[in-house]
Amino acid sequence: MRKLEGKVAVITGASSGMGRATATRFAAEGASVVIADLNAEGGEAAARECRENGANAVFQQTDVTAEAAIKGAIDRAVKEFGRLDVMFNNAGLAGALGSLEATTAENWDRTFAILLRGVFLGIKHAVPAMRKIGGGSIISTASVAGLRGGAGPLAYSVAKAGVIHLTKCAALELGRERIRVNCICPGGINTPLIHQHIPGGDPAVRQLLDNIQPIPRAGTGEDIAGAALYLASDDSAWVTGTAMVVDGGLMAGGNLFGGAAQQPFQTPAKWSGPSFEKD
Ligand SMILES: NC(=O)c1ccc[n+]([C@@H]2O[C@H](COP(=O)([O-])OP(=O)(O)OC[C@H]3O[C@@H](n4cnc5c(N)ncnc54)[C@H](O)[C@@H]3O)[C@@H](O)[C@H]2O)c1
Repeated sequence: MRKLEGKVAVITGASSGMGRATATRFAAEGASVVIADLNAEGGEAAARECRENGANAVFQQTDVTAEAAIKGAIDRAVKEFGRLDVMFNNAGLAGALGSLEATTAENWDRTFAILLRGVFLGIKHAVPAMRKIGGGSIISTASVAGLRGGAGPLAYSVAKAGVIHLTKCAALELGRERIRVNCICPGGINTPLIHQHIPGGDPAVRQLLDNIQPIPRAGTGEDIAGAALYLASDDSAWVTGTAMVVDGGLMAGGNLFGGAAQQPFQTPAKWSGPSFEKD
């Protein structure tokens, strides 16, 4: 029996990277999927790929900073597939780069609007649809950067710490309704988000990420999709309020980034947008 047979999921940020890998995995496990992302080209391709493998999937252009757009993606799931079982708040970007003093208030706010406010809105609007069917699973993508300073850019790291705390507070409030709320804290995952920041593309990213954690390879979208599948499925029926670390052992200890701490983030102050756009 497939793990998500008959379930319906909305996945934000599913046009690329770990969101796209998760959409493919959920579809293969029997779920119907709404792919919600700013990037129409990648999103349509992801939906097509799921359909070609026999699943129900649609793309809905969504900006997670816009409350009506998030609600629209959830409404689409209910209208198209009849229910909402799983909400995966995964959309993201690097956002404000640079030192604390060089970070503008505007770029701080833009980073938080996508990484934290977008997750809050995703949780908020998933609840009524899940309540109607007696429960559900809400998953959000945080980061190891939300657990430890220096593992990501400043505003990004603080927003991801917020996602972890939001997860716990929401889990307390929603447990009695059988709505589970968890987040995933990925380590270094080889996705377009990382490619944006490492000159030299995929081989250079591998060279950097293969050696920062005890398991000597970069993480993949599929590594995160596996964790999301566990949290989405009934296998995790008694799991809520967790921040699941999926990082090849990076957070187990030792010297972060093999002694080259923060090297990827020592960049001039600038805005780093969605990975499909050029910075
Ligand atoms: N790659 C890593 O090493 C890593 C580590 C920890 C956490 N993360 C987090 O994982 C999540 C997925 O990132 P990824 O690495 O797969 O990157 P990615 O760039 O491949 O995918 C992110 C997706 O989010 C979408 N997006 C960006 N802004 C959006 C918005 N306002 N509304 C809707 N969609 C938007 C992008 O278009 C893109 O498709 C992000 O939340 C990121 O912060 C990444």
